[in-house]
Amino acid sequence: MNQVTDQVQNFKEVMGNYPTGVTVVTTSDEQGVPVGLTVNSFASVSLDPLLVLWSIDHKVSSLDIFKNAGKFAVHVLAGDQQDLCKLFASKDMDRFSNCEWNSSEYGLPVVSGAFAVLQCKTFKQVEAGDHTILIGEVLDIQLDDKEAMLYHNRKFGPIPAEFHS
Ligand SMILES: Cc1cc2nc3c(=O)[nH]c(=O)nc-3n(C[C@H](O)[C@H](O)[C@H](O)COP(=O)(O)O)c2cc1C
Repeated sequence: MNQVTDQVQNFKEVMGNYPTGVTVVTTSDEQGVPVGLTVNSFASVSLDPLLVLWSIDHKVSSLDIFKNAGKFAVHVLAGDQQDLCKLFASKDMDRFSNCEWNSSEYGLPVVSGAFAVLQCKTFKQVEAGDHTILIGEVLDIQLDDKEAMLYHNRKFGPIPAEFHS
């Protein structure tokens, strides 16, 4: 292995072992057709105003739709939503005919069952290597009485009991 490949492998090893939650981010195109994908690059940015970010790979089929929509909804998945996590990362399933969802007051597709849903308007887009960082200003937060999902080392599921308050 050369040094560059080595660095990429080490980078993947580090990031794969950095525990995160899992989200599904959605929006819709000009005709109102919903799109979405599974995302774990989601992070908090600012409290005043309320800002979040996530990054989208330039290879994602809905890249241009997300860049033009001006809004998106982040669903922080609940511990029991493994099927939804897989559905929105799978290439061969029609995502929105295989889950329960409705259109929100902001015209965003909101999928049922998440721990939390943050509806955002796009605040800024930053080109960064082979991804675009989408920063969103939070317009609305729906919070359910559930626990978030944990993602670590390519496995995802409920947060272990010892972490419960
Ligand atoms: C746990 C997990 C986290 C992911 N995080 C991201 C992410 O942050 N950004 C991204 O662009 N793709 C991410 N992906 C990959 C996309 O969900 C996947 O490539 C999806 O199929 C892209 O949508 P498309 O099939 O419409 O191109 C992630 C996948 C998984 C399983």
